[in-house]
Amino acid sequence: MVDSRLGHWFKLLVSLMLLMKTQGLYVGITYVKSAVAKGAVCLDGSPPAYHWDKGFGTGINSWLIHFEGGGWCNNVTSCLSRKKTHLGSSKLMGQQIAFSGIMNNKRPFNPDFYNWNRVKIRYCDGSSFTGDVQAVNPATNLHFRGARIWLAVIEDLLPKGLKNAENAILSGCSAGGLAAILHCDRFQSLLPATARVKCVSDAGYFIHGTDISGGSRIESFFGQVVKTHGSAKNLPASCTSKMNPELCFFPQYVAQTMRTPLFIINSAYDSWQIKNILAPTAVDSKKEWKDCKLDLKKCSASQLQTVQDYRTQFLKAVNTGLSSSTRGLWIDSCYAHCQSGSVSTWLNDKSPEVGDTKMGKAVGDWFYDRSAVEKIDCPYPCNPTCVSVDSES
Ligand SMILES: *[C@@H]1O[C@H](CO)[C@@H](O)[C@H](O)[C@H]1NC(C)=O
Repeated sequence: MVDSRLGHWFKLLVSLMLLMKTQGLYVGITYVKSAVAKGAVCLDGSPPAYHWDKGFGTGINSWLIHFEGGGWCNNVTSCLSRKKTHLGSSKLMGQQIAFSGIMNNKRPFNPDFYNWNRVKIRYCDGSSFTGDVQAVNPATNLHFRGARIWLAVIEDLLPKGLKNAENAILSGCSAGGLAAILHCDRFQSLLPATARVKCVSDAGYFIHGTDISGGSRIESFFGQVVKTHGSAKNLPASCTSKMNPELCFFPQYVAQTMRTPLFIINSAYDSWQIKNILAPTAVDSKKEWKDCKLDLKKCSASQLQTVQDYRTQFLKAVNTGLSSSTRGLWIDSCYAHCQSGSVSTWLNDKSPEVGDTKMGKAVGDWFYDRSAVEKIDCPYPCNPTCVSVDSES
């Protein structure tokens, strides 16, 4: 009897430990119901949401606010499809999500941020949190209110302790990494003047690049996003006062005008950018790039040259976009997109290195001014430490 009960507990313990080892920390959802009265809602009108794991010990007054990613919707058609998914409605979001990588709560895997307050803001507006259109078309019931969402979340967190922040980072991955750049200076202005505030963008440095047809599909796509969501007025005025506001969705034009320190984690061969900025299917009618886009090893010699030229475009956009000495860079050569959200790429014994430095250490060194960090990898396929992982877009 005692034995079998012990056995039962043992089995439970083992499966719990296995769960923790394989899936990490799960954090429950908080709906921001008070946001609805402010019109700060997801595409379908449902309340926005975030996941918060409280800081502890020396991290109690430190805050990492992380935007979830997941592409964009550029017109009513694509926003209507998105509305039926967790990226357009909080009614369809999972209640628990795993915190890993930069969100990890274990010291060995995240030594500089593990005990901070860590918040993931769910993405349900389709505009990198920039939209704000007052009118709601009754036929579609689409709400374009991304900018209101991010402000409502910050306003909800300020009285919960964010107003006492001593250290803070605004970060995100992909469309969320772009949001971290676009809202960086505003974030800094909402926090105490004495706080150390910096921003970290992972796979959010989408360049104003040329595609294989010589055009720029991404320019028209981002232009449609900005128009559809009424985003221009919520992009940094330091940029929109100087150029066509639609271009201020591109980090390279915004970063030049920012005053808050910014760290860029990005592959120079970002797989989303190669697939959607360099060789979008719309300009590859014969699907000649299909295999190459799946795996760079399968590119022809001339395709690989085109990919190398894209890296040159990318590095130029980084160097002209971020000239300040406060910048931090970790630009690898792995064919990847979003690398900070997983322990296998952020910081463990196998995670990739650029110039002997793993990204989890690079970001910490830069945040705490332990050293300047400007790591730029050699060209593909030179880096043997690249690992392949699945990641959010
Ligand atoms: C909307 O955008 C999608 C791409 O996201 C495109 O395929 C479609 O043709 C566009 N629809 C309209 C009506 O412009």
